[in-house]
Amino acid sequence: MNYLEEQIISIGKIRIKNHLADIGIETVRAEIIKGLKAPKKYISSKFFYDEKGSQLFEEITQLAEYYPTRTEKKILSSFVKNSSIDFTDLSIIELGSGDSSKIKLLLKQISQNSLSSIRYFPVDISASAILKSSEELMQEFELKSITGIVADFVHQLNVLPKAGRRLFCFFGSTIGNFRKAEQKKFITELGNEMQAGDALLLGMDMVKDISVLEKAYNDEKGVTAAFNKNILNVINALCNANFDIDDFEHIAFYNQAENRIEMHLKALKEMDVSLNSGFNIIHLRKGEKIHTENSHKFTDKDIKSIEKWGNLKIKNIFTDENRWFKLIYFVKSR
Ligand code: TRP
Repeated sequence: MNYLEEQIISIGKIRIKNHLADIGIETVRAEIIKGLKAPKKYISSKFFYDEKGSQLFEEITQLAEYYPTRTEKKILSSFVKNSSIDFTDLSIIELGSGDSSKIKLLLKQISQNSLSSIRYFPVDISASAILKSSEELMQEFELKSITGIVADFVHQLNVLPKAGRRLFCFFGSTIGNFRKAEQKKFITELGNEMQAGDALLLGMDMVKDISVLEKAYNDEKGVTAAFNKNILNVINALCNANFDIDDFEHIAFYNQAENRIEMHLKALKEMDVSLNSGFNIIHLRKGEKIHTENSHKFTDKDIKSIEKWGNLKIKNIFTDENRWFKLIYFVKSR
């Protein structure tokens, strides 16, 4: 996470607006401590993505076992010709844009004529990721404009641009990282935000063979374990804490009742961890787990629920030959 000094930076056709400072480091710390003091300890998965974490996640996406990114990218690479999306004068708002590699695959399929009328709004919690990817994108594509929005979009839907006909892109099955009640709340709010003519392109990872799922989150090389543990380094930096990552084990398993992969960090010994330079102490029992992530997997019924919650209409569904991942194009009718 980055806290920029300036609220707005402008470089040529790129503008970046920072809304994160609005939240404040004290609120962030209070949120972290609340989770660590809960009867069932947890840390929000948004804290995975510091520089090291983003780099490790990038490595995960290239692992043989981790099929989601590769599969979604394959679908994204060729779907435009079969879709009913009109790209002229479109505002593309990508929620959780990261390195913008997915939007690139989409933009590659659009004519130069349409491209030069498109406004792209990457929305991400990382200012540095937005800056880097926006510069790359401007080099490769002649878009009308790029306006980066640094925000925690789950809580800041109100900062999204209102102008023009909008296509919201929410890739990576990130919706699956929300709890069920949060998924419903988020899609309901997004649906309320959307106006007639607006659309949503949503990536969803589907329920499949358990062994495929569990391997994707327990790779041979231990990259996933390193990624999961790195969240403790992020907490150390944000909260002046003294977690030792070697005191924890990476655990990932499929919870069949909830249709989700759960990620935890299991304490290998009993310990006291100091936060805020000793102002807060967190006690962990040996074997106690800190829950770091859920990755829900979806069924066709879940796709229907999203349509209902958002008051949307399913227009097209794109998938791969195994039907492991689906890209759903929803439109707002009223
Ligand atoms: N959004 C990714 C997913 O659910 C995040 C992720 C992949 C992840 N591997 C992980 C999170 C391991 C924690 C630990 O697929």
